[in-house]
Amino acid sequence: MLVTHLVAKNWRNFKGLDVDLRERQFIVGPNASGKSNLLDVFRFLRDVAFTAGGGLQKAVKQRGGVSKIRSLAARKDPEICIEIHLSDDLNTPSKWRYQLAFVQEARGKRQTIVTRENVWKGSKQILQRPDEHDAKDQERLTQTYLEQINANVDFREVAQFLQSVTYLHLVPQLLRFADSIQGRIIENDPFGQGFLERIAKTQEKTRKARLSRIQNALKVAVTQLEQLEFERDEATGQPHLKALYSHWRPNAGWQREDQFSDGTLRLIGLLWALQEGDSLLLLEEPELSLNAGIVAQLAPMISRLQRVRGRQVLVSTHSDALLNDPGVDGREVLLLTPAAEGTQATVASDVDEIRALLESGMSVGEVVLPRTRPSRAHDLSTVA
Ligand SMILES: Nc1ncnc2c1ncn2[C@@H]1O[C@H](COP(=O)(O)OP(=O)(O)OP(=O)(O)O)[C@@H](O)[C@H]1O
Ligand SMILES: [Mg+2]
Repeated sequence: MLVTHLVAKNWRNFKGLDVDLRERQFIVGPNASGKSNLLDVFRFLRDVAFTAGGGLQKAVKQRGGVSKIRSLAARKDPEICIEIHLSDDLNTPSKWRYQLAFVQEARGKRQTIVTRENVWKGSKQILQRPDEHDAKDQERLTQTYLEQINANVDFREVAQFLQSVTYLHLVPQLLRFADSIQGRIIENDPFGQGFLERIAKTQEKTRKARLSRIQNALKVAVTQLEQLEFERDEATGQPHLKALYSHWRPNAGWQREDQFSDGTLRLIGLLWALQEGDSLLLLEEPELSLNAGIVAQLAPMISRLQRVRGRQVLVSTHSDALLNDPGVDGREVLLLTPAAEGTQATVASDVDEIRALLESGMSVGEVVLPRTRPSRAHDLSTVA
């Protein structure tokens, strides 16, 4: 399933958001324009949809409370609202629409209170809250139906879709030093600390097939890398990845992941994520640490792997190399522009001037990215 449309109100630096989404959608904009905040809408819905120990209260608390989430541009309207439209493909009408709105309780425990929760299956509304049960017992409004197995039975498909949303922002240092940091892994592991465990838990046949595809890609991207394998340390039981590099000394070239370069680790994480699952995948700046020649291949690679799995991918990026790929279409780029009343989000090809330039043969990287640069960027070297 795909998220074909997103509407949001008062979500962080967006006062209003109303955009169509494609199977592959790039989100571009200056620093602090809200790219990560936009991805967080879907991470939030995933957290709400978790039936085991998750839910609305926890999802809001993890983000510091309603006051942190609610847009500073909201003024008097206390409500935050998110609505998504889901479809099997872009050309059919919505299969589902899910809408959730909430506020913070004005007094008492200051809990998060659902003000609206609506679900449409096709054009028919199958849930409308507050309902008669909520009217009898206001406490019910502290939970969504989405997060309750016995209440979401009529729209379980939506709940399951949201639960399997994945976010990847692999931080090589956290993975490499996972043992020595011994840090608590953040829930849902956004930074890849438990990435090796995830590989370890995958069925052997699937794991081998995925690693073999990754190995083929790494042989192209990483000089001298010849083989990539999974192993468990016999003494500690810890999972590891090891790679064989061609060196002048035979058999001296095996190295474990703590010796892999940042780019190697990020590329492995990216390629693994693209082969895992079939729900929405959120990629945060996949170009980081990668050579421009490799970054130039990311867009077609995402597209190919996504077509195989039917998986939708939302990508935040600052990269010219990534967006210079001629296959990237103006409809696949969401341009975020900060303004006094919150960030505006526009599909790049909806802007006449951009569309005209793209039609004249220029790439998205050439036409759209210059618009994301701060007008005073050239002053940076003299003011700092
Ligand atoms: N409730 C809120 N109301 C208004 N603005 C907010 C709110 N919460 C966060 N912000 C603003 O959102 C901005 C951060 O947005 P975000 O991290 O999504 O940017 P980004 O586009 O991902 O930037 P980068 O390219 O640097 O990663 C900050 O400037 C922050 O002040
Ligand atoms: Mg960001």
